[in-house]
Amino acid sequence: MNAKPLLTYRRHFRLPFRHTNSGSSSTSPAHGAVWEGSFAAIADGQVVGLSTLETIDNETDVEVGFTAVRRDYRGRGIALALKLHTIAYAKAMGVTGIRTDNDSTNQAMWHINQRLGFLRGPVWVVLRRQEQEEVR
Ligand SMILES: CC(C)(COP(=O)(O)OP(=O)(O)OC[C@H]1O[C@@H](n2cnc3c(N)ncnc32)[C@H](O)[C@@H]1OP(=O)(O)O)[C@@H](O)C(=O)NCCC(=O)NCCS
Repeated sequence: MNAKPLLTYRRHFRLPFRHTNSGSSSTSPAHGAVWEGSFAAIADGQVVGLSTLETIDNETDVEVGFTAVRRDYRGRGIALALKLHTIAYAKAMGVTGIRTDNDSTNQAMWHINQRLGFLRGPVWVVLRRQEQEEVR
């Protein structure tokens, strides 16, 4: 019997939307996508997850920038697999280091990043000054 894979991982795609994040990397003029090293998870012909590889201001390092999985496909190891593909591509590029960002409240991604061997670096704190009473 031929088993049909639930998922395939496809290299080189373009995001159908503009991606920004609040991390320092997005403010770097050298920050840009490495599309050939970015991966999508495909199920039944649809994109159900993605992980992007991006350049940063440091020329010898790259960043695994944005990883997301469709809600109904979460908890199956897809994000981990996508990041592994992206990291493998970056390693093959010969980079000296790979960076990634993690919102402190994102426990799932924190767990994944630790499993992948990322070590905690400088912490960014987002500050907000309340100017007006919020409308409820
Ligand atoms: C974060 C995200 C990409 C994870 O995708 P996913 O495919 O469900 O992730 P995986 O299945 O590969 O792994 C999830 C891991 O987190 C763990 N996890 C999930 N919730 C957790 C929690 N609250 N606390 C600790 N660990 C948690 C799971 O147990 C699993 O680890 P395990 O395989 O060792 O058991 C997905 O939730 C998502 O798309 N979120 C919105 C976008 C986002 O926040 N992206 C990250 C910013 S770059």
